Amino acid sequence: MSGAAESAAEHPPVWIPQAAEIAREAGARLREFFEAGVKTEYKGDVDLVTVADRTVEKLIRARLGEAFPEHGIYGEEGTRDRMEGQYRWYVDPLDGTTNFAHGFPQFCVSMGLEHRPAGTAPDEDGTLVVAVVYDPMRDELYTAERGRGGSLNGKPMRVSRIPVLAESLLATGFPSRKRHDSPNIHFYHEFTLRSHGVRRAGSAALDLAYVAAGRLECFWEFNLNPWDTAAGILLVIEAGGRVSSFSGEPYRLDSREILASNGLIHDELVALFGDLFAGRDLASIPTAQEFAQARAARER
Ligand code: IPD
Ligand code: CA
Ligand code: CA
Repeated sequence: MSGAAESAAEHPPVWIPQAAEIAREAGARLREFFEAGVKTEYKGDVDLVTVADRTVEKLIRARLGEAFPEHGIYGEEGTRDRMEGQYRWYVDPLDGTTNFAHGFPQFCVSMGLEHRPAGTAPDEDGTLVVAVVYDPMRDELYTAERGRGGSLNGKPMRVSRIPVLAESLLATGFPSRKRHDSPNIHFYHEFTLRSHGVRRAGSAALDLAYVAAGRLECFWEFNLNPWDTAAGILLVIEAGGRVSSFSGEPYRLDSREILASNGLIHDELVALFGDLFAGRDLASIPTAQEFAQARAARER
């Protein structure tokens, strides 16, 4: 991500309260839909969508358009407004649709703002400047502004101080498209055996917010989109954490891999990703068949 030195003063602090109000209104609508129950449709494989995703994206689009008429909007459910603008909101109206559709109360609204100064090439990243993630079920609002830190419900937010993977709690997620192409279950297995555990709670934006809030030491996932990650990345950075690719390269919004951590365990994680991709140092567990044979032998 370029522009780390970009001055915070360029972005009026008033944007956070306005964006937070929009996220709260969107979250309240999600909660109403959640309590009423909604019909689920398939976008592909096990990629679900509901009337709530679409209605809430429409709402956010209208509200952002009123509040920031010159800003662009790039939303998961298809919004592509003013893409040539110098500011662009990445919007996921409902991150955690599968949870939502099953009545599992872990989902959020995610809105991240990128500054793209004139001359930024279409394939070049700008600078993330504002982040708002809202969890309507817990009434938790995570915000951050570049250079001004992050907060959770108005209180300063910091990443955890746990210094080693072996004492860490981690999170990951799995894709809902092309599931058979993802190797992530192997990483899940390895990281589970080397840490206090790996949660798979089903909302990438909340997973990132939890790293920022010091509830998790690390989150990684393959194949996320900018609407999933834009806000969460800035939350983690402003709370003192680190975000990169699996090999430690600077993260880009179109990267297909994200590794976010409290910073203290980042080098250890990158080294382990390197080992795992190279097939080195894999932890061995019995196959289901070996386990069944051993169990049968014990019972004999
Ligand atoms: C999904 C969630 C999930 C992640 C998936 C995402 P959606 O977003 O963030 O945690 O594992 O890869 O697609 O579809 O619920 O907005
Ligand atoms: Ca999402
Ligand atoms: Ca979504």
